[in-house]
Amino acid sequence: MKKVSILDLGRMKAEEEKITMLTAYDYPLARLIDAAGCDVILVGDSAGNVIHGHANTLPITMDEMIAHTRAVARAVDRALVVGDMPFMSYQASHEDARRNAGRFLKEGGAAAVKIEGGANMAETIRAIADIDIPVMAHIGLTPQSIHRMGGYKVQGRGEAQREKLLADARAIQDAGAFAVVLEVVPAAAAAEITKELSIPTIGIGAGPDCDGQVLVVNDLLGLMGDFRPKFVKRYTDLGSEISRAVGEFLKEVREGEFPAEEHCFD
Ligand code: KIV
Repeated sequence: MKKVSILDLGRMKAEEEKITMLTAYDYPLARLIDAAGCDVILVGDSAGNVIHGHANTLPITMDEMIAHTRAVARAVDRALVVGDMPFMSYQASHEDARRNAGRFLKEGGAAAVKIEGGANMAETIRAIADIDIPVMAHIGLTPQSIHRMGGYKVQGRGEAQREKLLADARAIQDAGAFAVVLEVVPAAAAAEITKELSIPTIGIGAGPDCDGQVLVVNDLLGLMGDFRPKFVKRYTDLGSEISRAVGEFLKEVREGEFPAEEHCFD
């Protein structure tokens, strides 16, 4: 099966074909998502929250991200696998950024990396892209900047912030990013950026006019309890289904109904 490449994403933008992207962190879900035909699988540092149970994405480490990426890459036949560079794996120096980006490809089996930041990260994007590692950028609400933003808030509202968002988008494109995630920004600003940039925009909480859409798969599947930000659509409620199945197992064991004859050996 032909793998999706960064060139395909550029072609999809040119042909106005919507790009689909979901996160995955492990082999079984990545297999299902890939088989369903998703174009891009992001091994997101959201693993810090949704898999490891941290309050934010800052604590997840390079080694943890590489382990997730390796499991996902093993499962995938078609999708473009993008490894999300964790906090402090690329901010301190270009050398760190290059070495850690390289680990995602060499050890993780990813085909690209993602980093957060706009104009402030343009030179870092250039440093990574210059050694032929494709870089997806990420602007707007950047969860690794939670302490600067003072919480998870809509970014790019008002004229000054909208101008800054546009300047960030231009800077990361000029630096060589092949695509950009726009997270939690006004739909009108995302539409303007999408029109102006030649690289694809992939929105999350950024309205319908982006070139593609991404969701955290645990949100889409209903695995995050009552946590449901405005931009999330829950397509199923696996959380309730898992609770029901586990509850049934516990009851059957306690009442001596499981294992039944058909589950036993002679
Ligand atoms: O880590 C992540 O899951 C992300 C997506 C929300 C784009 O960065």
